[in-house]
Amino acid sequence: MKRIIRISKDLYEMSQEVAADLSRQVNDFSRIKRRLSVAFSGGNTPRQFFSVLGNDYRTNTLWKYVDFFWSDEKCVPPDDPESNYRAVREAFLDKADIEEKNIHRIFGENNPWEEAERYSGEIRRLTSEMFGLPVFDIIYLGLGEDGHVASIFPENNHLFNSVRICEVSEHPATRQKRITLTVPVINNAKKVIFIISGRNKAEIVSEILENQDSTDSPASKIKPLFGTLYWYLDLDSASLLNQLA
Ligand code: 6PG
Repeated sequence: MKRIIRISKDLYEMSQEVAADLSRQVNDFSRIKRRLSVAFSGGNTPRQFFSVLGNDYRTNTLWKYVDFFWSDEKCVPPDDPESNYRAVREAFLDKADIEEKNIHRIFGENNPWEEAERYSGEIRRLTSEMFGLPVFDIIYLGLGEDGHVASIFPENNHLFNSVRICEVSEHPATRQKRITLTVPVINNAKKVIFIISGRNKAEIVSEILENQDSTDSPASKIKPLFGTLYWYLDLDSASLLNQLA
């Protein structure tokens, strides 16, 4: 597994760098008329990234080469303040006037098990395949303080080796149903990009990056089989890394 760590001064600088990376890749793919499959993560950290896309890259006509997916979604309606889809739509998709046919949200308002099946079928239809699993070009992930990624929580070990593309999980505290990509699908991506900010993530970042073998958190299972794993950090979230010392 190829791993690249990029440390920015702060969340805004990191968001600008992540957005610039995505824009470059879209431009590269458009030159060969190749479509790009991108899965956005939820949570608060990527909101600035979405805003940078909506403010600084809204006029990029090449977004038409991108199929937009989500790494996970809360089982709530699309206009719910908790919706991961709503966060991206308001900050970026509406501003950049992205065509509906290229937006593949998870229908959080549907029956979770039926929706996991439906969304899996949509992913299969629109992505390439390797080892019997879909290959996303880019999957973005946040990182929970407990080491969860997407909606794969430490209590959800069964998701680590699921043969499914998507599974229904449950938030350990709120019991809220979630739909999430599984670890094998995430590890089948060409690029997996963590976007992590804040001093409250420093411990888990250090544990995973520097003591990978001593932890069995979901994030420690993220090891792309043939792709590259990027860790975009700000100084706060990277503050306990020895290499910074
Ligand atoms: C979600 C995300 C979740 C998130 C982490 C980090 O749907 O909430 O998929 O995995 O990325 O909990 O969240 P913050 O960025 O808010 O710290």
